[in-house]
Amino acid sequence: MKASRRLFLQLFVTTAVSRCLLDAVQATSQQTAANYTAFESPTASERGDLRLALISDLNGPYGSTRYSPTVATGLDLLSELKPDLVLCAGDMVAGQKLSLTDFQLEAMWNSFQSAVLNPLLQKGIGMIPAMGNHDASSQTTGSRYVFARERHQAETFWGRQKSRLGLEFIDANQYPFQFSVKQPGLFVVVIDASSATVDQGQQRWLEQALASKSRSPDDFCVVMGHLPLTAISVGRDRAGECIEDATKLTDLMQQHHVDLYLSGHHHAWYPGELKGQRVLSLGAMGNGPRRLLGTQRTSDPSLTLLDLFQDKKAVRETTFSLKTLEPIRLDSLPKQLSGKSFPTLDRRDIHWSYGT
Ligand SMILES: [Fe+2]
Repeated sequence: MKASRRLFLQLFVTTAVSRCLLDAVQATSQQTAANYTAFESPTASERGDLRLALISDLNGPYGSTRYSPTVATGLDLLSELKPDLVLCAGDMVAGQKLSLTDFQLEAMWNSFQSAVLNPLLQKGIGMIPAMGNHDASSQTTGSRYVFARERHQAETFWGRQKSRLGLEFIDANQYPFQFSVKQPGLFVVVIDASSATVDQGQQRWLEQALASKSRSPDDFCVVMGHLPLTAISVGRDRAGECIEDATKLTDLMQQHHVDLYLSGHHHAWYPGELKGQRVLSLGAMGNGPRRLLGTQRTSDPSLTLLDLFQDKKAVRETTFSLKTLEPIRLDSLPKQLSGKSFPTLDRRDIHWSYGT
């Protein structure tokens, strides 16, 4: 790309991001007024005491070391939004193919480091990663991991990054696959939902992690895994694309007062409630956006911002389209998602109280 064109694109994105933020404040204010019921609305221009950015599904085609332009747009947006922390629900590189060499796998992680991770860390923004099926799939054959080399590469890469992420780890014996993190006002447990199997051993571990003495009753508690608890998007409403037998896991999270289960993989934003458990399916930051179940329109690539107002225990969620750089309206989503053989998911509000 010629330097003049690159400069033009940079100026365009910067201008568009600034303009979108002004528009976003206005648009979100309107949504806020329309949707608030439980408590007085914090103004949309008000930054939360804790601001979390939620991203997912950045990867390109198998083996690719490049990212789609929407990933760069999302990173520019994050520079403007200045979150305290980024939570990434997985699929950061383009693995899950046995023919990829170790050299290729390493090159993809190096590219992720230079294109995504370093720019965030250099701005003082930490990251909590969850492993996706394209990063380090936990699929097994017999007692062996099918993608053992990919898991090894991911473990090596994230091991090198561990001290750079700005995190206080609580239980990191199986980092980066499953671990817990404590930050001021926040408790995050990452599970290995990089395949549909979250076995009993991991469920027991999750229960222990959630019961940790390091978790304060005032903490906003998030469990993050790559696959969702139920079907969200067309083509992913089938076995292998959602956590199998998720009822126990859902019950366990409810019993332990998890405020939000955060997932990726279905490439479509949907704030839902599943049998009383609040969940959030993230849109893709990169390639391959999908249609929500029962809809015709492809979801926009997106990222989500959570502003936490700790004295009111209030949360404001804003999801930005990376196509228009504007917030996506909640009422543009269906009120319910129903997939064959999967529990129905109800749409929920994007302004809510936590810890209740
Ligand atoms: Fe995925």
